[in-house]
Amino acid sequence: MNEQPINQNNSAEVKQKRMFSAIQPSGNLTLGNYLGAIKNWRILQDEYDSIFSVADLHALTVRQNPAELRKNTLGMAASLIACGIDAKKHPLFIQSHVAEHAELSWILSCFTMFGELSRMTQFKDKSKKNADNINAGLFTYPSLMAADILLYNTEVVPVGEDQRQHVELARDIAIRFNSIYGDVFNVPESFIPTYGARVKSLAEPTKKMSKSDDNQNAYVLILDDKDTVMRKFKRAVTDSEAEIVFREGKDGINNLLTIMSAFTGKSIAELEAEFAGKGYGDFKMAVGETVADSLAPIRERYDELMKDKAYLEECIKEGAERASYIACRVLSKVYKKVGLLPRIR
Ligand code: TRP
Repeated sequence: MNEQPINQNNSAEVKQKRMFSAIQPSGNLTLGNYLGAIKNWRILQDEYDSIFSVADLHALTVRQNPAELRKNTLGMAASLIACGIDAKKHPLFIQSHVAEHAELSWILSCFTMFGELSRMTQFKDKSKKNADNINAGLFTYPSLMAADILLYNTEVVPVGEDQRQHVELARDIAIRFNSIYGDVFNVPESFIPTYGARVKSLAEPTKKMSKSDDNQNAYVLILDDKDTVMRKFKRAVTDSEAEIVFREGKDGINNLLTIMSAFTGKSIAELEAEFAGKGYGDFKMAVGETVADSLAPIRERYDELMKDKAYLEECIKEGAERASYIACRVLSKVYKKVGLLPRIR
C-alpha cells in the first residue's frame, strides 16, 4: 500500500506539530469516508502529535434517536481503531466527555459574527434539507468546531473539502480573539491531503458517495461483508463504451479506477495497462474483490472490539483524560483573558 506520509519528520529534536480532527458518529463509515478521511488520519497520525474525536455534540444538530446515537458513538470509536487509529498512542475521545468543548464553544460564539455563520454553505445546505428543524445549533455549529480545534493549540486540521470553510472560520475566530487578548490561540491550518481519494456514488458516479443515499447500492460500507461488497460493485454504473481508461465523462470507470488505485497503491496508468482489453464485468469483479479483501480485516477487528467493550472503553476513557488535560489549561486561560471571575475553591 502507498502509505508514505508526505513530509517525513523523523528528527527527534523537531517538535511534532499538533494535528486534530473529528468525525460525527453517523453510523457506519462508507468507503468514501474511509478513503477520503480516515485512511489519511492513519497515515498521518505518527507524523504529528495527533488527537482524534468523535463529534457527538455536532450530531445533535439534527434530530437523533438517543439509543442509536449512543450506539453509533461507541461504534465510531471502534471503527476508527479498526481502521488503524492507534488509540493507545494518540488520544481518541468522545467530544461530550470533555466538557471544555461546550464551554469554549459558548465563548467563541460571542466572537463569531452572525454574517459569517450565515455565509456557511453547509448551513445553507442543511437548512434546506432540514427545513422543519433549522435550530440554533445548526447555525452555531462552526463555533463548536472552532472550539474543538482551538482547545488543543492545533496547527493542522485534516478535513475534506466540505469542511474547509469551517476551518477557515476557526482561523478567523482565533485571529480575532488574539487581536483583542494577545496570543491565546494557535492559528490552525486546514490540510486537505491531495492524495485522499474522492469516492463517488456507485449508482450515480457524478455524485459523492453518501450513506444518506436512498439507493443502498450507491455506497459501500467498510463493515459490509464480501457478498454485499461484490453485489454492489457488480451493479456499479459504468458507461456504454468498453474501454477501461480514466477520461473525462467516464465517471463510473474513473471512480472504479480511483478506488482500485487507493487500495492497491498502483497508479491509474498501471491499472489501465493491467486491464486493457478486459471487459467491464471482469474489472468490476476485480475491484470488488480487492475492496472486500482489504475491508475484511477492518471488519474482523471491529467485531472483536465490539465484543471487548472493556478495551474500547479504556481507550476512550484515557483519551478523554489526556484531552482534558490540554483543554483545561487552554480554557482557563481564555476564561481569565475575557474577564470571568475565577470560581472560589
Ligand atoms: N464537522 C466535521 C464533519 O462533519 C466534524 C468535526 C467536528 C471536525 N469538529 C471538528 C473536523 C474539528 C475537524 C476538526 O466532518
